[in-house]
Amino acid sequence: MPILNRAAELQGEVSEWRRYLHENPEILYEVENTASFVERKLKEFGVDEVVTGIGRTGVVGIVRGRGTSGRTIGLRADMDALPLTEITGKPWASRTPGRMHACGHDGHTSMLLGAAKYLAETRNFNGAVALIFQPAEEGGAGALAMVEDGMMERFGIEEVYGMHNMPGIPVGRFAIRKGGIMAAPDRFTITIRGRGGHAAQPHKTIDPIFIGSQLVGSLQAIAARNTDPLRSVVISVTRFDAGTTHNIIPDQATLWGTVRTLSEETRDLAEMRVRQIAEGIVGAHGAEAAIDYERKCPVTVNHDRETEHAIGAAAEVAGASNVDTDVDPAMAGEDFAFMLQRRPGAFIFIGNGDTAPLHNPHYDFDDEAISYGISYWVRLAERRLAE
Ligand code: NI
Repeated sequence: MPILNRAAELQGEVSEWRRYLHENPEILYEVENTASFVERKLKEFGVDEVVTGIGRTGVVGIVRGRGTSGRTIGLRADMDALPLTEITGKPWASRTPGRMHACGHDGHTSMLLGAAKYLAETRNFNGAVALIFQPAEEGGAGALAMVEDGMMERFGIEEVYGMHNMPGIPVGRFAIRKGGIMAAPDRFTITIRGRGGHAAQPHKTIDPIFIGSQLVGSLQAIAARNTDPLRSVVISVTRFDAGTTHNIIPDQATLWGTVRTLSEETRDLAEMRVRQIAEGIVGAHGAEAAIDYERKCPVTVNHDRETEHAIGAAAEVAGASNVDTDVDPAMAGEDFAFMLQRRPGAFIFIGNGDTAPLHNPHYDFDDEAISYGISYWVRLAERRLAE
């Protein structure tokens, strides 16, 4: 069975919602207008329970099926936009300079609303579906805020599923893998405190630029010499702040960077080695290192059994040949990882065609994906909560 007929019928209406949300992007936790739009729609559809203010501005809608198995599965969408100025020139382009739906969360929210409408109309399942609309996916850990607000326990959510659009994968296709699918995007700031002086008298200084330059190279040993070659790790120094002019050796230098890993073991190893290498090299030259290492969201790890369920639903909608079941992981981060730490589940990519890359000012969500997204959510819920 391909796309559900009703989902195809909903495509026009859901595209309008999507374009409205696209015109009115909101950042991080400040998604008040988006959350109230979601709340209004869920109530209009006759969803049984709508709870707002979970994880500050998150919304959860509960739709109960005909049968009362007592089981509940969670379907999650993110609502927030990015601090970026849109240059698509589309009629529905952002009305707010410096804010833009450049990651397609407008599409995610709209597709889950479309699924909510369908599920509230049909209720062909045994148990309940929790429709999760979260704030602050983009660096604000909104998923964690909802989890810490007791969302899983409060609604009795047993499994949780997420979806992200992916430019470059054709519309009508899905991609997923078991295990790590998105990276842990950790970050570090290393301040090297040396001793400044005249550039003509380096022997009277402890030169933090010289030390920092060695550190930039040596950190690559983590990828080249410390981790198993079959385990992914990316280390990038992305900023090097030091000095003022030609003839002064400064007192200090600061390196900024990111570490991306696909397993918690590699993640732990990478952090330990960043600290050891920084302290070792800086200390060897008689300077001091202050290391600020910040762990952001965990690795997004798909659970085996739930990944099979996701593949089953996607294959039903798009055809088995249109589901890549062993896609390469992405080294970007995704805070749905926090939900997958608490409950089994799976995160899937839905093709979004030839649009510009995510987080690019030319990006726009391709509405042709909407009927696939709605059909996937609906069939996943109906299969997991079969009568
Ligand atoms: Ni995103």
